Amino acid sequence: MKGILLAGGSGTRLHPMTLAASKQLLPVYDKPMVYYPLSTLMLAEIRDILVISTPEDLPQFRRLLGTGERFGVQFSYAEQPRPEGIAQAFLIGRDWIGGEACALVLGDNLVHGDHLSALLRAAATRPEGATVFAYQVRDPERYGVVSFDQSGRPAEIVEKPAAPLSNWAVTGVYFYDRQVSDIARQIRPSARGELEITELNQIYLEAGVLHVERLSRGCAWLDAGTPDSLLQAATFVQTIQSRTGMLVGCPEEVAFRKGYIDAATLRDQARAMGKTELGRVLMELAEGEHA
Ligand code: G1P
Repeated sequence: MKGILLAGGSGTRLHPMTLAASKQLLPVYDKPMVYYPLSTLMLAEIRDILVISTPEDLPQFRRLLGTGERFGVQFSYAEQPRPEGIAQAFLIGRDWIGGEACALVLGDNLVHGDHLSALLRAAATRPEGATVFAYQVRDPERYGVVSFDQSGRPAEIVEKPAAPLSNWAVTGVYFYDRQVSDIARQIRPSARGELEITELNQIYLEAGVLHVERLSRGCAWLDAGTPDSLLQAATFVQTIQSRTGMLVGCPEEVAFRKGYIDAATLRDQARAMGKTELGRVLMELAEGEHA
């Protein structure tokens, strides 16, 4: 399975911070925001990754991420000239996807928790249909919202409903089968002028092949699209990392644990981080001090 990391948009809800910098490159505690969704793709064991961003910001992503060799993955890059919707990623990436199954993660979404790796791997290997993840939130009207029928099957998905039918928000982590590029072509722009990912999910839902994985309270899903949620995400990462000594959303760590890079490569990465705490933890990992 391939994976798209979508880091477009103009980040208007974070102005003026995003007037001269891409939202998804802003720091979330000790790492650039995009490291978190990148780690999510890597936990799903997806290593062929297309990074999509605006023509202005794409060079910055290339500078940060490079070829992917140091993470044991392969990056390709493509531009999204205008913010015309999340589902447009499958049109932009159509040739690159080449008729394969493809996942998509939004560059400002952070997921963390027990069993998540297993859920991600299961989603990536499901041969048919689509998988999305739902999470209970207090403000569902900000998101795509999925409701369920009495037997627990997904009934409807609505984008930013004024009167949500449930408090289950659809997170920005999506897995689709090989039909995705063709199905994305059927979508027409919404009232806000975007090719909505919710519409794509609705098509899979109507075909009876949308798998909705409900994340339990043991998981955390955060987006970092507003000043408050950016700060919350940073505080979350700091709290978990400083309490446990374990890292959240660190692609070098995932790469090493998955065997995508060896200890020597991890040591080089750690050294490149200088005297940072992150560098120290990665060096310990490379030296085998953490199981
Ligand atoms: C987008 C999607 C929405 C989803 C959310 C997750 O919202 O349209 O369905 O719930 O991402 O972060 P947007 O970021 O465009 O407001």
